[in-house]
Amino acid sequence: MAPFPYLIILLFFYTTTLPLSTSTPQKQTFIIQVQHNSKPSIFPTHKNWYESSLSSITKTTSNNIIHTYDTVFHGFSTKLTQLEAQNLQKLSHVITIIPEQIRTLHTTRSPEFLGLKTAAKTGLLHETDFGSDLVIGVIDTGIWPERQSFNDRELGPVPAKWKGSCVAGKDFPATACNRKIIGAKYFSGGYEATSGKMNETTEFRSARDSDGHGTHTASIAAGRYVSPASTLGYAKGVAAGMAPKARLAVYKVCWTGGCFDSDILAAFDAAVADGVDVVSLSVGGVVVPYHLDVIAIGAFGASDAGVFVSASAGNGGPGELTVTNVAPWVATVGAGTIDRDFPADVKLGNGKIISGVSIYGGPSLTPGRMYPVVYAGSGEHGGGEGGDGYSSSLCLAGSLDPKFVKGKIVVCDRGINSRGDKGEVVKKAGGIGMILANGVFDGEGLVADSHVLPATAVGAIGGDVIRSYIADGAKSRSLPTATIVFKGTRLGVRPAPVVASFSARGPNPESPEILKPDVIAPGLNILAAWPDRVGPSGSASDHRRTEFNILSGTSMACPHVSGLAALLKAAHPDWSPAAIKSALMTTAYTVDNKGDRMLDESNGNVSSVFDYGAGHVHPEKALDPGLVYDISVYDYVDFLCNSNYTTTNIKVITRKIADCSNAKKAGHSGNLNYPTLSAVFQQYGKHKMSTHFIRTVTNVGDPKSVYKVTINPPEGMVVTVKPDMLPFRRVGQKLNFLVRVQTREVKLSPGSSLVKSGSIVWSDGKHIVTSPLVVTMQQPLD
Ligand SMILES: *[C@@H]1O[C@H](CO)[C@@H](O)[C@H](O)[C@H]1NC(C)=O
Ligand SMILES: *[C@@H]1O[C@H](CO)[C@@H](O)[C@H](O)[C@H]1NC(C)=O
Ligand SMILES: *[C@@H]1O[C@H](CO)[C@@H](O)[C@H](O)[C@H]1NC(C)=O
Repeated sequence: MAPFPYLIILLFFYTTTLPLSTSTPQKQTFIIQVQHNSKPSIFPTHKNWYESSLSSITKTTSNNIIHTYDTVFHGFSTKLTQLEAQNLQKLSHVITIIPEQIRTLHTTRSPEFLGLKTAAKTGLLHETDFGSDLVIGVIDTGIWPERQSFNDRELGPVPAKWKGSCVAGKDFPATACNRKIIGAKYFSGGYEATSGKMNETTEFRSARDSDGHGTHTASIAAGRYVSPASTLGYAKGVAAGMAPKARLAVYKVCWTGGCFDSDILAAFDAAVADGVDVVSLSVGGVVVPYHLDVIAIGAFGASDAGVFVSASAGNGGPGELTVTNVAPWVATVGAGTIDRDFPADVKLGNGKIISGVSIYGGPSLTPGRMYPVVYAGSGEHGGGEGGDGYSSSLCLAGSLDPKFVKGKIVVCDRGINSRGDKGEVVKKAGGIGMILANGVFDGEGLVADSHVLPATAVGAIGGDVIRSYIADGAKSRSLPTATIVFKGTRLGVRPAPVVASFSARGPNPESPEILKPDVIAPGLNILAAWPDRVGPSGSASDHRRTEFNILSGTSMACPHVSGLAALLKAAHPDWSPAAIKSALMTTAYTVDNKGDRMLDESNGNVSSVFDYGAGHVHPEKALDPGLVYDISVYDYVDFLCNSNYTTTNIKVITRKIADCSNAKKAGHSGNLNYPTLSAVFQQYGKHKMSTHFIRTVTNVGDPKSVYKVTINPPEGMVVTVKPDMLPFRRVGQKLNFLVRVQTREVKLSPGSSLVKSGSIVWSDGKHIVTSPLVVTMQQPLD
């Protein structure tokens, strides 16, 4: 059976690519890594050398170098045909050629400008004096520098170590930077090489943000105190980022067509050369091996230079294996709820109340009045301009018949087009309100939006109640009615945190021995700065302007961790990026504010390590973790060796020749000194089901302290830790221990797997250092 689907795939590509090969060969962008130090002296610069290499393999004269790279990566990017790429690869100084991937923002908002389908939001916290000499580099859609969140009052001079600059561009003079935004650069070469010249009436050729995402994420990481802050009256209070005095350096790489790898790598290169302390990246794509993954490569170079990199896990949840940005040297951040929400309930004509959420802030429906309600997917009525039942239920542009919806509340199914666009479509067709209903696939996860008309979002179960109420009305010839009751902002919501439905989940598709995501942080309904260029719904017709906006997504969770990392680095300047990540992970918690195990929003069940990794970040505890699991560049090389990367591929990532002979002796990829433990057992008949992990902890707490272990073994397993006591005599001292995991053979049907989790906890009576231990047993198909 197996060859059959394979054949279909081959044929599919064959038939679709055939017509292209008869015309001009298609060029695409490649990122080329070169042996940097073998530049012949006749070339004055590396760029001259790269140009000469290019002209040797191609007859066309139009080979433009898009970017050259010389900090986290050595080489350049350019557009090539497949044949040219193959010829270039043959040159002795060319190490590798990586085809470009186009990335998306990890938000379910702002698709109008970016042509994307995912969404996001943000939060607030308190100011410390930490962070004022730290620089957070935000690789995103740019920034709206005039926002109050970016004022530089009472900030000291720009840190002396800073080597970056404020690059002027369209509507962004060099004076747009201040002592808060100390750097601003933009990279569009890769975007324009593929998508053509940017449309400068819709986009700024500068670091100015025409989308909103980058302004939002930057202010989550490092926004100043702004009071009062709110969006259309919701979430009133003081807005502040995680590190309110940290400096921001903005690297704009995302444009209408997406975020292009060649530009992202240029941004990493610039950020590290400029001297940032933290890189925040709320962008991602498909998971590929690390030597083909420009984010993994750029992040490695950054980490090697002591720069902490946090990246969003992605919004592909709640399905398993959806997590992205999974390299072990990246902090991979999922999203949780906070104890605030925005209830807006649907009241039906039969008296039933369906709970929903909304941050709609305009003129409301008349209190006490019931309005006719229709389902956009009700067959013949739905089809406006050729809309069928399917597309009209989604309220796609042009799919609603004004005769059918005028003056009514319209129920739209979630999916395909952006939530903000659905509101716009209903309003345009004359609808008076909208109920956005989840389908089975969306589950119960809800995102509050500031729609252009009175609207609320309801879960799949509530959505079905509403849809059948309307269908029953049609049968009994009675008129279904409804209204939406907006209840404003509710605080102290319990339980919280809950893992957000959309938050991408493990296991780690590239390295199952490394548990991902690493942590979760607030990512649902987060208030943060917003540009003047875009209305809060993100829709083109939304002419409202707000200083702040409320968004949801792992895009919003990531900059929380970026800001916290800056604070931790300010408090502990000698900590490596791995030590900072360890502190955040071993102090993370997995219970909610009711004292119960954290739940999963998608199904209301208890969540697992594949949903939250080590747990939800706990900033104050992370300041004083007691012990850290540190990792050096050499450890990562050993990890790559043990993950069966070739020495050539390792060099692409690390820029160094790897010697894998020692690493292979040291064992397996699970031996990377990671703060979490993940074992994967393949069940081949009578296989011995045991493995071990070697770990090293560094004392960063009290000089003389004795840590004792508590083992919470995964169900049905025997776990031993040797030694079970670690007596430290000084700060900075490192001690090793060995964890052995044994399990009896479990009968599993072919292709199925079983996951069990527990934990290893070290404590000196004052600090609690927790590492989750997850064991996956898989039965292969054959
Ligand atoms: C640029 O965008 C504007 C606004 O959408 C549009 O009217 C114009 O035709 C576009 N220009 C080009 C060259 O595509
Ligand atoms: C979640 O709970 C439901 C019942 O409430 C159950 O049917 C389902 O199997 C559970 N899902 C998981 C993944 O445990
Ligand atoms: C690497 O290859 C060896 C030998 O084929 C295999 O036993 C091991 O499981 C592989 N490791 C990984 C992480 O793929």
